[in-house]
Amino acid sequence: MKKHPVVNSTEKIVPFDFRTKVPIAKHLSLIGKSSIRDFFELVQNQTDVISLGIGEPDFDTPWMIREAAIYSLEKGETGYTSNLGLIELRKLIAQYVSKLIGVDYNPYEEILVTVGVSEGLDCALRAIIDPFDEVIIHQPSYVSYVPLVVLAHGVPVIVETLEKDGFQLDPVAVEKKITPKTKAIILNFPTNPTGSIENEEKLEAIAQLACKHDLYVISDEIYAELMYEGTHRSIVALDRMKERSLFLHGFSKAFSMTGFRIGYACGPKEWIEAMMKIHQYSILCASSIAQQAAIEALLHGKKDMEQMVEEYRLRRNFLWKNLSSIGLVGNLPKGTFYYFPSIRHFGLSSKEFCYRLLQEGGVALVPGSAFGQGGEGYVRCSFATRFEDLEIAVRRIESWLKKIEKEGKKQ
Ligand SMILES: Cc1ncc(COP(=O)(O)O)c(C=O)c1O
Repeated sequence: MKKHPVVNSTEKIVPFDFRTKVPIAKHLSLIGKSSIRDFFELVQNQTDVISLGIGEPDFDTPWMIREAAIYSLEKGETGYTSNLGLIELRKLIAQYVSKLIGVDYNPYEEILVTVGVSEGLDCALRAIIDPFDEVIIHQPSYVSYVPLVVLAHGVPVIVETLEKDGFQLDPVAVEKKITPKTKAIILNFPTNPTGSIENEEKLEAIAQLACKHDLYVISDEIYAELMYEGTHRSIVALDRMKERSLFLHGFSKAFSMTGFRIGYACGPKEWIEAMMKIHQYSILCASSIAQQAAIEALLHGKKDMEQMVEEYRLRRNFLWKNLSSIGLVGNLPKGTFYYFPSIRHFGLSSKEFCYRLLQEGGVALVPGSAFGQGGEGYVRCSFATRFEDLEIAVRRIESWLKKIEKEGKKQ
């Protein structure tokens, strides 16, 4: 038990020093601060920087969505909603998801409205993970997966994806990591930061592994609409997968609504019910205003969303072509708004590369190492950045690369 300061009548009372005595939970020491955050604190302290770093749409949220939020405030719709979320919104989500991935969910018991995919991920894991259960995560991937597994008292097990395979997840590599303790696998296609997608054959093989080894799938499909090659396919739609999968999606990326903090989880009734328990005690419900805005997004936001996707496609083509031609070569992103080229041949670590480019070249990219060890040797360039800035960024990167190449020759 923790000792309290000893106090007797002759001593002055020494106040408890909470700054040094707070007994921070031990498992938190396993988690570092997000290195993206550290890096962007540096970016903020520097002037004249073009940022291709942030994983956030640069477009304003379409006006009618913002207007719906304002109108809901005007009407005074500012109370708690049902813990699961407004039923009108859940019904619209059911229709939207049915069109998007071809899977039908019952809006009364199979859908939970969450505070972004972030909260959905957290609840999904805490609902099924017992201490020391293993969760397979493919990397390079989104920075939250490993910490959230640790916070749920699980053990993250990493499977690396490789550039030569288009950063697709290899089912054979997955099977090698399965043990009797493996409970779940987190998938993210299209993938942040690589822009890759999984082909149907591999998706099918992973689904078969899940059934064979009784694994549960948490499928974060937040970039589903941002596809530039073919149409999006979800593992959840494959045979026997609906009953063992949780589909996570939201409004942040496709509808440019990051600050609204709204998303949803669709899955088997028992899983949603368990997530609801966590959600109702920790969050209560997603913001009523954000829920009204989300209703508007689903009713009338499709055209704006498609226009944004078309603009991303043009930017993707521009960035890929122009960065490749100056030595930042990588796979053409099939989805998301990220390009993930290699920087190995420059002889700098991804952190050194990004720090120097920021300070000497005035462009912010994200070091690939932020997305796991397998991301070392790469940088993430976001094309959720307006065209004019992309053009300036390419010119700046080109002259900075010439400078470091000269330096290399002198040595
Ligand atoms: C793969 C992935 N999942 C989840 C999130 C978080 O989404 P939300 O804003 O819905 O919490 C992000 C944000 O960058 C992401 O890239």
